Amino acid sequence: MNAHKYVKDCWYVAGLSHEFKTSVLTSHKIAEQPLVIWRATDGKVVAFDDRCCHKRFPLSQGRFIADGVLECAYHGLCYDSTGKCVKIPAHPEGNIPPQARLRPIPVIEQDGLVWVWAGNPDRASLFQPPRTPEISDAKWEAIDSGPMMVPANYLLLIENLLDITHFYPLHDGNIGDYANSLLPIELEEGEEGGYRYVRTRRSARNYTQPPYFVDWFHYETVDREHTHCMVTPGLTRVELRVAPPGKLGTGVDRGYTLFHTHTPVDDRNHVWRWCVTCPADHMSRGDPTKSAAKRIAGMFPEVVAQDHWALEKQQHMMEYDDNGYSELFLRSDKALRRARQILAQMQHEEAKALEARAAKPAAAAASA
Ligand code: FES
Ligand SMILES: [Fe+2]
Repeated sequence: MNAHKYVKDCWYVAGLSHEFKTSVLTSHKIAEQPLVIWRATDGKVVAFDDRCCHKRFPLSQGRFIADGVLECAYHGLCYDSTGKCVKIPAHPEGNIPPQARLRPIPVIEQDGLVWVWAGNPDRASLFQPPRTPEISDAKWEAIDSGPMMVPANYLLLIENLLDITHFYPLHDGNIGDYANSLLPIELEEGEEGGYRYVRTRRSARNYTQPPYFVDWFHYETVDREHTHCMVTPGLTRVELRVAPPGKLGTGVDRGYTLFHTHTPVDDRNHVWRWCVTCPADHMSRGDPTKSAAKRIAGMFPEVVAQDHWALEKQQHMMEYDDNGYSELFLRSDKALRRARQILAQMQHEEAKALEARAAKPAAAAASA
C-alpha cells in the first residue's frame, strides 16, 4: 500500500523552459523530494537531489564558481554538471572518494517544459512526457501563470478541471456559462506514451456564444468542440475550437489550447501552472490591438482565485474522518471517477514495482 496519496512514478513539470536560466539554481519539492535544478553552461537542464552528499546541506543555497562548477555553501564541496564531486577543500591532496556525487534525477526538456521523474528510476523509461507543441511553436502565442502553490492534494485540481459543471455557480460573473455545463458529455479513453488518459468532449452546434467568447473568437453563433483531457497525472489539456456553423475544420477555426500542470509537492499541496496558447495572429474582437491569448490570460487570475479558494476548502474537509460520509457521484462525474480509477491503478502498479525491487536482492541472495 502506498503511504502517499498521489502517483509518484510519473513525469511531472518542474517549470517552463524560460524559468531555467543558465547557472541559476532553483529549488523544488516534488513528490516529497528536495530537488535542485539548473541549466548548465552547455544549455542542458540538470536535476539532482538537493542534498549535498557530505552533510545534506541544500545545494540550492550554494553558488557557481568557475566553469559552471557548483560550490556547496557549507564546507565547499564542488560538483560539476554531471553531479560528480570535483573538489573537497578538506582534502587538499585531491583525494575524492567515488561515492562523492549527487543523486541524479531524470530530466527531460521538451516543447517548452522541463519534466522531472521523482519516482522509481527503474520505471522512468516506461513513460514519455506528453507533447505540448503549442507552448514552444512560434506560430502560437503562449502565456503562462508561473508556479502557484495550492494547499490541496493534486487530485482535487484534476477533478476540478475535468468537471466544468462547477463553472456555475463557482465562476458566476466571469466564465459561469450555465448553458455550457448542460451540454451532453461524451467520454473518451485511450493510452499514449505509457499513460492512460480520460477525456470529456462537449460538442455543440449553432451555439450562441457568451460575450467573452465573442470577444476572444469573434463569431457569435458557432459550432463548437470543447475537450478536457487528463493526459497524465501531471498534465490536463483543454482544447476549444469554434467556427461558424458547418465550418469546423475548414481553416476558419478559432480557439485555444490550454495546458494545466499539477505537480504534487506532498499529500496536501501541489504546484499548479496554466499556460494558455492561441494562434499568434488571432487578435481579440473587443480590442483588436490585443491578442486573443492576452485577453484570455487577463481573465484567468480571477477564475483561478475562485478555484484555489474551492480547492483549499475541499482539502480542509478531507482532513475529517469519513464517519459514515460518502460522496455522491453524478452523471457529470463520470470522467472524474475514471480519473480516480486510473490514478489508483497507477499507484497500485508502482507499489508492486517497488515490492519487486525490494525483493530482488533477497531473491538473488537465496539463489546464491
Ligand atoms: S554539507 Fe556540503 S560541503 Fe558539507
Ligand atoms: Fe474552475
